[in-house]
Amino acid sequence: MQYGHFDDAEREYVITNPKTPVKWINYVGTLAFGGFIDHTGGTQLCKGDPALNRITKYIPQLPAGDFKGETAYVRVRKPGESPAQAKIVSPYWSPCLGAYDKFECRVGMYYSRWVTEIAGLRYDVLAFVPRGSSELVRQYTITNIGKEAVQADLVPVVEFSHFDALKQLTNADWVPQTMTSLGKKLKDGRTAIAAYAFMKRDTAVNVLTANRPARAYETDRKRFLGDNEYGTWREPLSLREETLSSKDAARGDTIAALQIDLGTIAPGASVGVITQLLQTGGISAVEGACGKWQTEKEVAAAFAELKSFWDRYLSVIKVTTPDAAFNSMLNLHNPRQCYTTKTWSRYLSLYQLGYGSDRGIGYRDSSQDTMGVIAQIPSEARELMEKLLSVQSTNGSAYHQFNPMTMIAGRGDSMEYEDRPHYYSDDALWIVLAVSAYLKETGDYAFLDKTIPFYEKDKAEKPLESGTVWEHLKRAVTFTHGDVGKHGIPLLGFADWNDTVNLPTGAESQFTANLYGWALRELSELCAYLKKDADAKNFDAWYADMKKKYNESSWDGEWYVRWFDDKGNPVGSAKNDYGKLWLNGQSWAILSGFADGSDRGRKAMDAVKKHLATDKGIKLSWPGYNGFDPAKGGVTTYPPGAKENGGIFLHPNPWAIIAETMLGDGDQAFAYYSRINPAAKNDSADEYECEPYCYAQNILADEHPNFGLGRNSWLSGTSSWAYQSSTKYILGIRPEHSGLRFDPCVPKAWSGFTVERACRGATYRIELKNPNKKSKGVSSLVVDGKKIEGNLIPYFKDGTHVVEATLD
Ligand code: GLC
Ligand code: GLC
Repeated sequence: MQYGHFDDAEREYVITNPKTPVKWINYVGTLAFGGFIDHTGGTQLCKGDPALNRITKYIPQLPAGDFKGETAYVRVRKPGESPAQAKIVSPYWSPCLGAYDKFECRVGMYYSRWVTEIAGLRYDVLAFVPRGSSELVRQYTITNIGKEAVQADLVPVVEFSHFDALKQLTNADWVPQTMTSLGKKLKDGRTAIAAYAFMKRDTAVNVLTANRPARAYETDRKRFLGDNEYGTWREPLSLREETLSSKDAARGDTIAALQIDLGTIAPGASVGVITQLLQTGGISAVEGACGKWQTEKEVAAAFAELKSFWDRYLSVIKVTTPDAAFNSMLNLHNPRQCYTTKTWSRYLSLYQLGYGSDRGIGYRDSSQDTMGVIAQIPSEARELMEKLLSVQSTNGSAYHQFNPMTMIAGRGDSMEYEDRPHYYSDDALWIVLAVSAYLKETGDYAFLDKTIPFYEKDKAEKPLESGTVWEHLKRAVTFTHGDVGKHGIPLLGFADWNDTVNLPTGAESQFTANLYGWALRELSELCAYLKKDADAKNFDAWYADMKKKYNESSWDGEWYVRWFDDKGNPVGSAKNDYGKLWLNGQSWAILSGFADGSDRGRKAMDAVKKHLATDKGIKLSWPGYNGFDPAKGGVTTYPPGAKENGGIFLHPNPWAIIAETMLGDGDQAFAYYSRINPAAKNDSADEYECEPYCYAQNILADEHPNFGLGRNSWLSGTSSWAYQSSTKYILGIRPEHSGLRFDPCVPKAWSGFTVERACRGATYRIELKNPNKKSKGVSSLVVDGKKIEGNLIPYFKDGTHVVEATLD
């Protein structure tokens, strides 16, 4: 069953049935101020750290029909009727539910828009955070589509959270004793409701206001719901009174509700209201903070600014291929998700709840996230890379995670086990790939000379050591070079990319070996370009050495093993009872080039096809472990077929896609792509459940009774890699140091495609023709009418350049 459809022309996904299997969300604003809005209007909003400055109370684990964070009610009656006779509805459908004549939630580029019809009125609502602001603006236009005049009030409502998000859930005495919400009459007669925790009165006050005066207001949840809260969000009893209480709340469960009298609305007539939910610097700042976005004109201008940001963002890579779901993902939804993962890391979604103030940004996660936005927002990507480099250790390894507000870093779950190493062997290597991709995209080689501190500090909080970006990168690979086990394969540390396989100290990781290989190749190419010959030689030697040891130790017969445990036994071998075969062990041997020069790469990917590929995506491993085993770690906490234990973990799927393009099988690569493409799951939403317009982190696999069920949508490394696998490897447009490589690998049936790609100040209009039904191999390349040997398009400084290519 479908719950909506894609409207690519409007750059929106349109939800037409609100009873989606789980909430489907959209993001607004940035980490500085923003959050997500679900398709029935519920809002999770924070300013800065979601753990320590949360504004609304949105608890995703509550049933879908419940109130979550913010909504609005409309009370509709015939003129002269009493409130007891009124219909009480919500423009967002939830939390009133009931019969609606039309429901549309248009999920746009960092805004959501609703067009709903309930109780004889049409509600057009636009919600977004104006760029650079700390306000969530909602513009309501309410139209009488019936034949008779009606009398109506709009009642926007916010339920506040304590600023300390976790305290809200863990302390039911201190929290309500400290919360305040009060109505303030503004000089122009409007009302603002100011809500805060006592200790934040003079520094951080949340405000709900509107551009029209309020007839009354409410601040207390108990009064609003009525009957000591035996009234419900679905039908708050206070709305049966003529007016809300207009009393303040000196404690308790605080809310903000404004009763805005819309008067009598004649048939065909419309009334507009604009509300603002914002945070200002203290109670005395409230009056001054309530003046913005008061007119439709101002809102239209702010909305146009948001749209133009996205016009530019989405114009950097525009594709037209024969596959509509692919186009939709590449032109709209995947870039938005990459922006979202870059912005929110793993902070705040329906699944990642942002409570732990120490988790913040993951070193490996954000390093990979930057790679999904480098083409669009290179300087923001670089700023994040600088932060990441500043939590690298002097020894070259990296801290696992850090809080971007305080820049305090931590060692993650590894601290739970005293007898285990407290580093993750892959973390520091990812930034090498990210910085290299940044240099290739921008040509900003001066970045390599920028000095950035390492993390360790002296007693005065001064960094013990600093180094150039180049020095940081070198140290990352040098750490791995010196940190190997019995087979010469890098030691695992607490874990590698797979956080959940936590083998006793002494284990080795084939994944880290391959990632190290890829990183060394990047550095070697960079050295060749910058003529750092001695370094290049050194890195090439390290690469050759690891490649040799890897192939000597890690081939299992039909595939590569994935780890050696502390005793030197293979994990991910046909000899094992469970976890015999692991996806990343195979794809990464191709990504690193370690399988080059033999038929092992093809064999390994054939094993993937045989044992791991399902029609809903590729499983991470097979078969799943069946029972908790502390010697394996977190992976065995999941039942077989779930998440890292034999589930379809989506993040590594694009690596398999890249591997197939490297092996030249465009049909297989695209088949893998399409199986996980959420847009292609629009018709099977009851099985998949998550949003069809962004990637989930995982899908339950065929060992699990709920095969096909997606979870943990939005904040996943899947986004960056799905984008990279499709733009750089399927479409084959890869910035390199001395030109734009054009090396597509497409389904044979494609007659071709066109791409517009902006890079380093110039725009390339690329057209590929595929007359002979090939997958790979550009046989002719013509740039601005001139034939070019090979497949490297030279960089231009500006202008638009026409690139015509043929596969043969
Ligand atoms: C999650 C983590 C990521 C890890 C992956 C596999 O997506 O955020 O860091 O690599 O799980 O365990
Ligand atoms: C990380 C990942 C998650 C994994 C968990 C296990 O937080 O996000 O995918 O299951 O680690 O510890």
